[in-house]
Amino acid sequence: MDKPKVVLGVSGGIAAYKACELLRRLTESGHDVRVVPTEASLNFVGAATWSALSGNPVQTEVWESVHEVPHVRIGQSADLVVVAPATADMLAKAAHGLADDLLTNTLLTARCPVVFAPAMHTEMWEHPATQENVATLRRRGAVVIEPAVGRLTGVDTGKGRLPDPGEIFEVCRRVLTRGPAVPDLAGRHVVISAGGTREPLDPVRYLGNRSSGKQGYALARTAVARGARVTLIEANTGLPDPAGADVLRAGSAVQLREAVLKAAADADVVVMAAAVADFRPARYVTGKIKKKDGQEPAPLTLVRNPDILAEVAADRARPGQIVVGFAAETDDVLANGREKLRRKACDLLVVNEVGERKTFGSEENEAVVLGADGSETAVPFGPKEVLADTVWDLVAARFR
Ligand code: CTP
Repeated sequence: MDKPKVVLGVSGGIAAYKACELLRRLTESGHDVRVVPTEASLNFVGAATWSALSGNPVQTEVWESVHEVPHVRIGQSADLVVVAPATADMLAKAAHGLADDLLTNTLLTARCPVVFAPAMHTEMWEHPATQENVATLRRRGAVVIEPAVGRLTGVDTGKGRLPDPGEIFEVCRRVLTRGPAVPDLAGRHVVISAGGTREPLDPVRYLGNRSSGKQGYALARTAVARGARVTLIEANTGLPDPAGADVLRAGSAVQLREAVLKAAADADVVVMAAAVADFRPARYVTGKIKKKDGQEPAPLTLVRNPDILAEVAADRARPGQIVVGFAAETDDVLANGREKLRRKACDLLVVNEVGERKTFGSEENEAVVLGADGSETAVPFGPKEVLADTVWDLVAARFR
């Protein structure tokens, strides 16, 4: 089988050096990569580096190897074009259809999925000109990954960093797997909670659970690849931030509730994948609880935590908002799931069986997705991203 053909466009920002790592990931995972840098980007990384790492010729202009008509052929034969980093200038050219070098010509001739990974200073990213260009590109079907927040060039910090190359690779891999299908969550804001809450007892102890957060992260990564704006609210996962998601952190159920309700205010979809503690210690002890010789420990008194899923579902912030819950059950899985779907009044409930052999933290999952309309979609044992894509298929069908 031919290797999938990927065009890696590199425009002139300092983050160009990170594209070397993205290129390595792509080639090592069996892709045939043609790097098309802009002239400006060669100030940061030279053509020799791209040529050596890709094993393919590198050119920036349309005037070399003219007999091969590269300005048309490279785009036409690509299975994926990814531009990383994409500067404000590159986004503007792409949005307006300018074609003054090989990369911009390639963008006009490509009919495959296109991914942009912008990187620039916060002011440039937030400027209405850039935001309108990004909106135009998204409306036309491109996946534009939101930049990460963090240290920028010089002394500045803010939104505009190129996400981790490994995470950009993950977006590319998913977009390639989906093929030319239009990103069906484009224009949608999805809020996902992931991980497990910790309910503090004293400054060193908490009540927690064994949720790894991997299913929630798989939902976030697949949603980015399907074009959604993603807010991921994570509780104690320690996992690397997915490219393109705005990641917020919450520790306890009360903090998670606050973050979810705030983000849900302008969300089209809310997915509660987090394992929320049903109870918390009634009293937080400000100093470490010490054992005392000859004394039994004081019994632990617990109080109920708010049910975030039920609250979001009962009081929808927007008409048509879709609310998805999860349920981990050990017995009478489907019957309990149906009852929970009714009780929590959500639109979809992903029910999985947990037990001794079905451990938390695994890379796979098996579930049945129950719909409020009575539907049942069984997802056989497999990678968590397959279950995630099934959830998004069901969500997208409800939007249609
Ligand atoms: N959930 C929530 N807030 C809580 C508890 C759970 O939002 N305080 C959400 C979870 O994120 C999940 C769903 O509710 O999406 C189901 O969680 P589960 O623990 O299975 O449900 P419970 O209400 O705890 O039901 P039970 O204890 O009867 O199994």
